[in-house]
Amino acid sequence: MYKPTIPLTFLLILALAAVSVRSQSIIPSKYDGFVYKKRAASTATVLIEAFYDPVCPDSRDSWAPLKQAVDHYGPAAVSLIVHTFPLPYHDNAFITSRALHIVNDLNASATYRLLTAFFKHQPRFYNAKTLNMSRSAVLEQVIGFASRAVGNSLESAIRKGFNDSKTGTKTRVSFKYGCSRGVYGTPFFYVNGFLLPVNDDDTMDYNRWRKIIDPLITEQHGGSKCPSNVF
Ligand SMILES: *[C@@H]1O[C@H](CO)[C@@H](O)[C@H](O)[C@H]1NC(C)=O
Ligand SMILES: *[C@@H]1O[C@H](CO)[C@@H](O)[C@H](O)[C@H]1NC(C)=O
Ligand SMILES: *[C@@H]1O[C@H](CO)[C@@H](O)[C@H](O)[C@H]1NC(C)=O
Repeated sequence: MYKPTIPLTFLLILALAAVSVRSQSIIPSKYDGFVYKKRAASTATVLIEAFYDPVCPDSRDSWAPLKQAVDHYGPAAVSLIVHTFPLPYHDNAFITSRALHIVNDLNASATYRLLTAFFKHQPRFYNAKTLNMSRSAVLEQVIGFASRAVGNSLESAIRKGFNDSKTGTKTRVSFKYGCSRGVYGTPFFYVNGFLLPVNDDDTMDYNRWRKIIDPLITEQHGGSKCPSNVF
């Protein structure tokens, strides 16, 4: 009788080997993401990371209060990195994420302007709105939109960016990075590397952010005694 045990184990080992080889080869040359206002994202600050899909309504709704909270603190206290995480059920999530990576390469100061523009005019890129459009027509719409948002002088550079496989790779690496951190939806937030649990009925409004960040800042500046009941 056919015994699958050995070949299956062997295949599993091969598959694991393939996965580990792959995960080594995608390490990017610098840390993934867009640093907000070129603040030095360092371990000396409270570091917030947001995983966003540019065409996700929940990502959009969470942006204004997060921005307001980060702006409240000085750059020496809080820094922010946004990672793109295009959800597979949003048809234009990858292409709009890629536009952000392209613009970030061209002018890093304009990245957040484009992100804000995508959030503001998000319905234009929803599935139903683009259902009857060809992929190339959607691409043209994204190129035109991004150019108007960050400056028409960049239009040909943005168009070239979409034809450059490196920008596709960057967008994929961002996605894979999210997967490696356990991201499975948007928005996902990490504070100093730890996942912020967000329940569906919690809104991450300004006050909630202040409640999370204020004690961390106090701890940074006050003595950093370890409460013995915790450790
Ligand atoms: C880069 O973007 C910023 C913000 O949108 C803008 O003020 C600046 O002029 C841009 N720089 C170039 C070289 O296009
Ligand atoms: C898409 O095309 C179908 C069939 O022509 C039409 O019924 C529908 O209204 C169109 N949808 C949009 C959003 O244009
Ligand atoms: C895209 O790149 C290819 C080569 O990689 C080039 O032949 C082609 O002209 C480019 N297309 C555009 C629209 O820039």
